[in-house]
Amino acid sequence: MEIAIIGSGYVGLVTGVCLAHIGHTVTCVDNNPEKVRKLKAGEVPIYEPGLEPLMHKYSKMKRLNFSSSIEAATKKATVIFIAVGTPSKKNGDADLTYIENVARAIARNMDSYKLLVEKSTVPVQTGNRIERTVALNLPAKFRRGNKCLVEFDVASNPEFLREGSAVEDFMNPDRIVIGVKSRRAEQLLREVYAPLKARLVVTNVATAEMIKHASNSFLATKISFINSVAQICDRVGADVLSVAEGMGYDRRIGRAFLNAGIGYGGSCFPKDVDAFVRLAEKSGYDFKLLKGVRDVNEQQKASFIHLIEDKLWIIKDKTIAIWGLAFKADTDDMRRAASIDIIQALQEEGARVQAFDPKAMDNARHELKGVKFCADAYAAAKGADCLLVLTEWEEFKRLDLKRVRGLLRQAVVFDGRNFFDDKLFVDLGFEYHGIGRGRGAHAS
Ligand SMILES: NC(=O)c1ccc[n+]([C@@H]2O[C@H](COP(=O)([O-])OP(=O)(O)OC[C@H]3O[C@@H](n4cnc5c(N)ncnc54)[C@H](O)[C@@H]3O)[C@@H](O)[C@H]2O)c1
Repeated sequence: MEIAIIGSGYVGLVTGVCLAHIGHTVTCVDNNPEKVRKLKAGEVPIYEPGLEPLMHKYSKMKRLNFSSSIEAATKKATVIFIAVGTPSKKNGDADLTYIENVARAIARNMDSYKLLVEKSTVPVQTGNRIERTVALNLPAKFRRGNKCLVEFDVASNPEFLREGSAVEDFMNPDRIVIGVKSRRAEQLLREVYAPLKARLVVTNVATAEMIKHASNSFLATKISFINSVAQICDRVGADVLSVAEGMGYDRRIGRAFLNAGIGYGGSCFPKDVDAFVRLAEKSGYDFKLLKGVRDVNEQQKASFIHLIEDKLWIIKDKTIAIWGLAFKADTDDMRRAASIDIIQALQEEGARVQAFDPKAMDNARHELKGVKFCADAYAAAKGADCLLVLTEWEEFKRLDLKRVRGLLRQAVVFDGRNFFDDKLFVDLGFEYHGIGRGRGAHAS
């Protein structure tokens, strides 16, 4: 099938590469000329495990093409996925400007039946709005009064991939959700995904949009729930890791997303939770539970800073080492990473910050000012008054902790991800602080 993907970011590029991999001919479009230049030159603009070899393979075979022209891509393809960003506005609403721009551009270039598929995460009802936008922007020859003389459909196909395992997630989805209004749209999307042999959930458009809202918000809720439990663990001397294990074996609960830490971040959960709260508000419902989820997430960062202040006493003029900046491991994505808030709060108190991240330092340079970015984890630790672990990169587990202890001015570790076995540090004479581990119980 000839497919176009508009927006070649974390989702669009992975979708394009994977659809080429399962046999389609794909054109990935982006309006960022530098990105398109890189893609055409074979450079992958993001870090995503497993993506590069597949991208090279299908580019060479010409099953995967890159372009900055929505016009040409629209004319060529029948199915057009929209995968542009939907960032938060200041009031928490999703900003759908990019979606509208793309819908208009597609409409202006339509000359035959097209299926527009929302891949971006959008508020419920966006499907209707896209439909109206397309109808209003069709070329004059395809409009007669309110009647469209060229057929099109708008479908919702929310994406559930996780950065860091995006290719694997795309190729082996738990389910594929498609929200459609017509048999034709359903048939086309069934055809697109047939090679994956995945479980399909077919609904109307609004329901598919709602499934994405509800899924991300539920996962964020799990994180804030265990973070609240961690706060109590610290106060009563219980260990949240064992609590999560004990809860997780219950199949009704499951162990995933029960990791206490400095809270969720990234380009999805914070903005999608905000957007769902706003959507509920506009529909006349006060989504108190989700507002609480968001508050708990903010509190986690604040309480981590308090913990550091409590143990380090004066922050001003202290040097703080940071391991990990990305919002989670295996990605270079810094969007709304918890590390940004934590580092900025420490800098406001006068700390000097020296940091290392295996993949996210280029992106971090745009987000963080006044940070010394170091060549490796040892350089970040050198001469620091404490060490903060903010992202759970596996490679940190392979570091020589004895050497790290020798490099630090004070051997104090704040593990914001409960990533390390605390005993490793304690046995080497470090003071170790995790989150919800029964605070103080493991300090040397
Ligand atoms: N990143 C994730 O893990 C993830 C997972 C599921 C869903 N989503 C959703 O998918 C959507 C895209 O997210 P992302 O992380 O890939 O964003 P991104 O910012 O990485 O990519 C968006 C791309 O769209 C391009 N773009 C913007 N306007 C355009 C236009 N008019 N024409 C062509 N290209 C245009 C941008 O240049 C950019 O490259 C969002 O709605 C997001 O919520 C993201």
